[in-house]
Amino acid sequence: MSERFEFTPEYLEQAKKAMAKYPEGRQQSAVLALLDLAQRQNTDGHYVTPAAVDTIAEMLDMARIRVMEVATFFTMINLEPVGKYLLQCCTTTPCWLRGSTEVHDAIQSHLGIRNGETTEDGLFTLMEVECLGACANAPMVQINDDYYEDLDGDIIVKILDALKNGEAPPRGPQNGRQNSAPIGGPQTLLDMDFGGE
Ligand code: FES
Repeated sequence: MSERFEFTPEYLEQAKKAMAKYPEGRQQSAVLALLDLAQRQNTDGHYVTPAAVDTIAEMLDMARIRVMEVATFFTMINLEPVGKYLLQCCTTTPCWLRGSTEVHDAIQSHLGIRNGETTEDGLFTLMEVECLGACANAPMVQINDDYYEDLDGDIIVKILDALKNGEAPPRGPQNGRQNSAPIGGPQTLLDMDFGGE
């Protein structure tokens, strides 16, 4: 039997705020928010423990299985421990066409882990995922809450080394472009005559 899970005061306040967003009697709608908060509170493994599922089920007056249905559906909820940095490498078609195989291979060979594994130092877990909605900046990897985009094998290795050294490498596009704008800057509306000065 695992130990009982309690939200810390800070996380409990956030959980209550999430529950208060829904009409009276509909607090179960906050289940995903509470799962996310429980995962963030657990800095030892960054996952939702069985005890946390029990506590959330009690707080929301839900059957435990219904909490588990949500927890197992959404891939952002971890039910097993993961490393300090969770590398979610997208390999869906747009990323694949733009070189995600090279990126995925570079992560595996640089860290010495296969997909689904965690490095011995507990720093990195690699997970292959489906489209993360950043196809315009393919190929990309999500690391914890941040997107690293326009990658190749060399760039992702540099990012991994920076994280290992305790640095915070800049997130977003890694090829110099602004967001999803073309390389070289925005190209639209530059030649149009709007009739002004
Ligand atoms: S295919 Fe990789 S973000 Fe969409």
